[in-house]
Amino acid sequence: MIKLCCNYVDEAVIGCENGLNLKQEFQNYKDKIADIITDLNKRKDKPGQWLQWMNLGYSEETVWYVKEYASMVQGRFENILVLGIGGSALGGLAVTEALLKPYWNLLTDEQRDGLPRIFFLDNIDPDSMTGLLNMLDLSKTLVNVITKSGSTAETMSQFMIVKNILEQKLGANYRYNIVATTDKKTGVLRQIAEQEGYKTFVVPNDVGGRFSVFSAVGLLPFALVGLDIDEMVNGIKDMDLALKNTDINENIAAQNALIHYLLDTKKGKNMAVMMPYSSRLKYVSDWFVQLWAESLGKSDYVGQTPLKALGATDQHSQIQLYNEGPNNKVINFIRVEKFDNNLEIPSIFEYTGIGYLGGKSVNRLLNAEADATRVSLTDNKRPCVTITLDKINGYTLAQLLYMLEVQTAITGELYGIDTFNQPGVEQAKNYTYALMGRAGYEESAQELERKMAMV
Ligand code: PA5
Repeated sequence: MIKLCCNYVDEAVIGCENGLNLKQEFQNYKDKIADIITDLNKRKDKPGQWLQWMNLGYSEETVWYVKEYASMVQGRFENILVLGIGGSALGGLAVTEALLKPYWNLLTDEQRDGLPRIFFLDNIDPDSMTGLLNMLDLSKTLVNVITKSGSTAETMSQFMIVKNILEQKLGANYRYNIVATTDKKTGVLRQIAEQEGYKTFVVPNDVGGRFSVFSAVGLLPFALVGLDIDEMVNGIKDMDLALKNTDINENIAAQNALIHYLLDTKKGKNMAVMMPYSSRLKYVSDWFVQLWAESLGKSDYVGQTPLKALGATDQHSQIQLYNEGPNNKVINFIRVEKFDNNLEIPSIFEYTGIGYLGGKSVNRLLNAEADATRVSLTDNKRPCVTITLDKINGYTLAQLLYMLEVQTAITGELYGIDTFNQPGVEQAKNYTYALMGRAGYEESAQELERKMAMV
């Protein structure tokens, strides 16, 4: 199981101006937290509550269909190309980056055990898109287009470009190179998929994009590149069981939720930094940033601004600010106890400045840097928590992501907001539709042009 250490947010360590009396606060909020956990678990099966993500660990049918399709297409494609944005891409990126061998796409077929490369196209930059499309042989590529709404402008414009190229290359058979993940019934992509005869997977009802990583949105690409999705599902199930515990003293998601909520509302820590000490977990920060920002940044100026950092790299860019700048952040370290590799630094120099490194491991150096950074932040009275994974695998990673999802849901309840909507995102999406001339958005377009002409 993953662990949470929150000693370094305690006022006994960093003083009462910046820290919390944890024992007291856990006691104060004991009943409220128990009610929140009970309520979330009660509501999770009700339609319209957007809590179906809490059931994804138990969705045996999806796992079965995903594995069946993955084994059916195994060996047929050199590449997987995922088209999607936001919640339709970030979970996939976070998990594949963490669990595939590093530099996966640069490895030979043999080194990848014959499994395909994987690319995520999560932007519409014309230069990078052209570059990717020139580089990939689309006829040897399985394109997984993922959009819950089925009409997101970025994803659907990518899809239209890719579909056109595929059709020109492969004729009617192009459809075997496409698999669509979208809503079961609604949306333009669903209509197209049915008309054209694509294989499809479903983004379940009441699962928002940023909570969808363990639906077919993530599981399908994971299975296609040979990741063990059963291991992930087991991780979620075990974590879900642990997080059903209504006692805050035993529930790490509830503890971290309350810590963030109180540090924000009582101590002015309105930013939350996610800083894994592992390059493989780099995109977990991107995923978390979306989860925290879109879920908790709501009207009435609620929500902490999430920031991403990577240890040890960002010790040399951001830590100066975190140590001495505005004391308005809580830092979340993620620490890995045991890396897959043990990398020794050879004893080849005796200079005083670097000789001490010889004979030690990079593993030890990285975790020493995590400890050193945490202690220096503590010296400067900056609150930090540490989440520890004994090692990185599908089980621990799924636990980490699921724990952060539950933490987000509990924090939203503490703020008293709707964690699962995203009106701010929808507003910008609608403005884009208006500017690009989508039917039905004519009035909006006029209004927008008027506003834009004013500045
Ligand atoms: O979390 C969310 O709901 C959003 O970030 C969506 O995932 C994103 O806007 C993409 O939407 P869709 O999956 O409908 O294309």
